[in-house]
Amino acid sequence: MNEQPSLGFVGAGKVGTALARLWFQAGYVVRAVCSRDAAKANILAAQVSAAAVASPDAVIEAADLTLLTVPDDVIEGVAAGVSLASLAGKAVIHTSGARDAAALAALAARGALTGSLHPAFPFADAESALARLAGTTFAVEAEAPRLQAWLVALAQAVQGRVMVLPPGQKAVYHSALVLASNYTVTLYALAERLLEGIGADRETADAALNRLVEGTVENLREKGIPGALTGPLTRADAGTVRQHLRALRQIDPSVAEIYAALARLSLPMVSARGVSTERLERVLDKEV
Ligand SMILES: NC(=O)c1ccc[n+]([C@@H]2O[C@H](COP(=O)([O-])OP(=O)(O)OC[C@H]3O[C@@H](n4cnc5c(N)ncnc54)[C@H](OP(=O)(O)O)[C@@H]3O)[C@@H](O)[C@H]2O)c1
Repeated sequence: MNEQPSLGFVGAGKVGTALARLWFQAGYVVRAVCSRDAAKANILAAQVSAAAVASPDAVIEAADLTLLTVPDDVIEGVAAGVSLASLAGKAVIHTSGARDAAALAALAARGALTGSLHPAFPFADAESALARLAGTTFAVEAEAPRLQAWLVALAQAVQGRVMVLPPGQKAVYHSALVLASNYTVTLYALAERLLEGIGADRETADAALNRLVEGTVENLREKGIPGALTGPLTRADAGTVRQHLRALRQIDPSVAEIYAALARLSLPMVSARGVSTERLERVLDKEV
């Protein structure tokens, strides 16, 4: 194995396309690409001066390090379908946030080094990811020191940051990202529905919420936890919290429960700011 591995990609979708092109631009050699749709493999292969090949076997044969950038649910199936008898000297990883290296056990059993490299970035499409990926954290999962060093170098080659994950913690890691990213969208949608319910049109509601969320992210960046928390809890405005809960209960009791659960989870941050939570706790206990 060379110090800088040659790369291969199985899956020319959003993540495969963006990463292959970024690493190619950064000086890595991409040897081969395959995808379910040969036309997609051809397009990506041409962009990164690689060969478009017909099967994962051919990619693994050509490259030191193969990335399975396929949907989570097919990673194990693709790994199980590899028919090369020995994979000694080869490394194969996937880019799933939720799955761990065990999804590649069929390949590890034949001598491949296995692991995963998850870019914590929402790839809506390959083009926008190409322009915006710098600064992204890559979660690295690899037991073999050599593979781990390769994955760290790959992240750093695209101005990424690195989080090395202990074995067996992928589910915790990914659930943290889902909470912070996906469920921010869910809470936003809930807020949008409430504003539309009192007559705001979508554009007006979005304008209000977008700037608010942007300001919150800026506060998180600048002040972190608990400094970024603002609002009635941090002022110990128990009366306001009571009003909120009563108004929400009228609209949808389950939303009032979510509000109360989130408020309870926020109380340690309120305490850390030196604000008494006693009255707030009483209101939360009484109203929900
Ligand atoms: N999207 C994100 O935000 C994001 C972020 C971080 C990590 N990830 C992870 O990255 C991986 C890929 O996600 P993605 O968003 O790039 O998905 P995607 O855009 O749907 O691309 C997946 C690609 O895999 C190909 N494929 C599907 N089944 C295949 C098979 N059996 N053999 C060969 N190729 C096959 C598809 O083929 P064709 O197009 O050729 O039909 C498609 O190009 C997933 O593990 C995902 O969890 C995604």
